[in-house]
Amino acid sequence: MQAAVTRSSLGAVRISARRGVLSSRLGAVRAVSAWSNVPEGPPAILGITEAFKADKNPNKVNVGVGAYRDDHGKPYVLPSVRAAEKKLFEAGSDKEYAGITGIPAFVKAAAVLAYGESSAPLKENRISITQSISGTGALRIGGDFLSRFYPGEKTIYIPTPSWANHKAVFTDSGLTVKQYRYYDKNKIALDASGMLEDIKAAPNGSIILLHACAHNPTGIDPTQEQWREISSVVKSKGHFAFFDMAYQGFASGDTNGDAFAVRHFVDEGHNVALCQSFAKNMGLYGERVGAFSLVCGSPEEKKAVDSQLKILIRPMYSNPPINGARIASEILNDAALNQQWLGEVKGMADRIIVMRQSLKGALEKLGSQKDWSHITSQIGMFTYTGLTPEQVDRLAKEYSVYGTRDGRMSVAGMTSGNVQYLAEAIHKVTS
Ligand SMILES: Cc1ncc(COP(=O)(O)O)c(C=O)c1O
Repeated sequence: MQAAVTRSSLGAVRISARRGVLSSRLGAVRAVSAWSNVPEGPPAILGITEAFKADKNPNKVNVGVGAYRDDHGKPYVLPSVRAAEKKLFEAGSDKEYAGITGIPAFVKAAAVLAYGESSAPLKENRISITQSISGTGALRIGGDFLSRFYPGEKTIYIPTPSWANHKAVFTDSGLTVKQYRYYDKNKIALDASGMLEDIKAAPNGSIILLHACAHNPTGIDPTQEQWREISSVVKSKGHFAFFDMAYQGFASGDTNGDAFAVRHFVDEGHNVALCQSFAKNMGLYGERVGAFSLVCGSPEEKKAVDSQLKILIRPMYSNPPINGARIASEILNDAALNQQWLGEVKGMADRIIVMRQSLKGALEKLGSQKDWSHITSQIGMFTYTGLTPEQVDRLAKEYSVYGTRDGRMSVAGMTSGNVQYLAEAIHKVTS
């Protein structure tokens, strides 16, 4: 007993002596803080919302936000989501963990929504799918999976411009990120020939990231004819198509129409990767509901991929959140709720289309000599206005209109109450 006490107290002495040396060696650093050498990074996009909130102008407009707003500028919870929540509450659902790859009924329905009822790889049981932490989480799982297992050069080509987070997600996944031309600044349109040239010039077997619909930030999508051409070039080069579909249904109001590119590639025999988000089309932003899938060559290959996805996800976050996925599952699997949701998605898409027409019409009525046809030809939540960073700065300073400096504006931030004011402000800074 005595010896044990001596040993343990000796141990304590030895430890504290060692600590003493350490703290005196690191004394100078410790006195400040371990993190005193961490450089401050540039502000995130959320800075716009902060500046908007601080602005006292009653006419202020926030067109920087990446979430849908109703015609009163308020966040919108879909009635189908409320109905699904009620159903779940009344059923007294438990709070048990989901499996590593999520809620089976949800991922099954998500795959049908994306690939279509009659999809050959779905029928042949060769699509590996996992629930993800919304679209960003799907991109990260996909990036990490390709970084581990893609047999070719681990370089992913993303469009210029692309969603601001793509580069960071893929770089952090261990992929090399390069870019292909996408946007023609002079025409405010797709640079289709530049895009195809760059995809052709990429080394055979490269990974090509494609926005499935409602390209963010430009709102400019290839036509169906152009998608066919892109598919054959990607195929002829042996490239791998990696789709990001964050806006299915939200772009045109038609979930099947918005899935054209993905389904066409699959029909053409591409074994694609696909990231899905239910943030926009179900308004489930903060619930973080998404899916990542890989079309495999056979059910055996799918089985192997399934197992590796689990191995990859387990140390990341063990298993995904259940609430949002249960809501989405109700909406996708209950026929009546599904019909209701399709109507609501179309309602959101239509409001955005009407706002595009209103903004263009108001600019023309004000006598603007510029061609604003891109506002209505673009699709989805955003319009790439073609405004310069200096014009965007003036909009904020002189008119309390807040957008990103690349000239992107969220059409979802426009309402019948603010669109005239917005048009006047844009007209003033562009004439
Ligand atoms: C092109 C694109 N991909 C992915 C995402 C990811 O969104 P979330 O993680 O909220 O689903 C977004 C969100 O704005 C996006 O625009």
